Amino acid sequence: MLDKINKYMGEVAQFNSLKVDEIESFRIKFIGSKGIVKTLFGEFKDVPNEQKKAVGQALNELKNTAIEKVKISIEALESEQAEKGIYGDLTRPGAPVELGSRHPISIVKNKITSIFSRIGFTVSEGPEIEDDWHNFTALNLPEYHPARDMQDTFFIEKSEDVEKDMLLRTHTSSVQVRYMNEHKPPIRTISPGRVFRNEDISARSHCIFHQVEGLYIDTDVSFADLKQTLLYFTKELFGKSKIRLRPSYFPFTEPSAEVDIYWGLETETDYRITKGTGWLEIMGCGMVDPNVLKNAGIDSEKYTGFAFGMGIERIAMLLYQIPDIRMFYENDVKFLEQFKAVQ
Ligand code: DAH
Repeated sequence: MLDKINKYMGEVAQFNSLKVDEIESFRIKFIGSKGIVKTLFGEFKDVPNEQKKAVGQALNELKNTAIEKVKISIEALESEQAEKGIYGDLTRPGAPVELGSRHPISIVKNKITSIFSRIGFTVSEGPEIEDDWHNFTALNLPEYHPARDMQDTFFIEKSEDVEKDMLLRTHTSSVQVRYMNEHKPPIRTISPGRVFRNEDISARSHCIFHQVEGLYIDTDVSFADLKQTLLYFTKELFGKSKIRLRPSYFPFTEPSAEVDIYWGLETETDYRITKGTGWLEIMGCGMVDPNVLKNAGIDSEKYTGFAFGMGIERIAMLLYQIPDIRMFYENDVKFLEQFKAVQ
């Protein structure tokens, strides 16, 4: 009898499982109502008297050890399940990290700055809240100049002295003036930034949009330099190598021009966006007016230069065939996600 009990003791000691059904079978086998412990107690009466003490002790020990084993197995099982509840299945693959995407405005801005930085242009910035002097007067747009009406302005503060009026800049050309005040020629800089105009919002125009301004000042800068720089730029950005400059008017440049690129007439979209001409206007430019150089403290006898300005939204709409300017500001993830692959 003692040998039998010792054998069962060994089995109980070795039992180790975290499976519900295995623990339950173990319990039934040893301490169930028809289990081994019960059966052995049934046989106890046949044990010779002189062995009764030893066998009785061993039997009680077997019973208690088996009960304890079931208890600790259930506890271990429960704590494992609790852990799973917190951490889930620790062997499953990790949750993928949602990759964001750059905003199309940033993508185009980065492309433009990178193209110009390759030919020596620095990147500069100016304030969005500007005074009249930098946004208008210094750029050859004195008070009552009719061209001020070309850009409907959000004024912040009117002052006795017009030049001190505060406003939201209507174009990045204001940065030209600030840059020339702070730097001596040769100057090669581009200034990307946000601009504001009091305009009705539609598919084609918005009251907030972005521009990139370019400024090049040195001795002997000619219109040919301007044209060649723009040709390089349009080739790099659009992969199109045909441009034309149409005479135009801007108060801060003389002569002034608008730049068209030959987009082509291969598809129906080409027809639509070029209104059947194949040509597309992409920016304004010109030779910096000597008055502007003077206003910014640069010797206009010694130096000449060119400037240009373009709208980032317009270029992004062309590059990515975006039909409505409002889409840039709606923060619709489905729209923005499409730019994940673009750098
Ligand atoms: N500032 C002009 C606008 O907002 C764009 C522009 C035209 C900038 C000609 C220039 C330029 O620097 O030379 O419409």
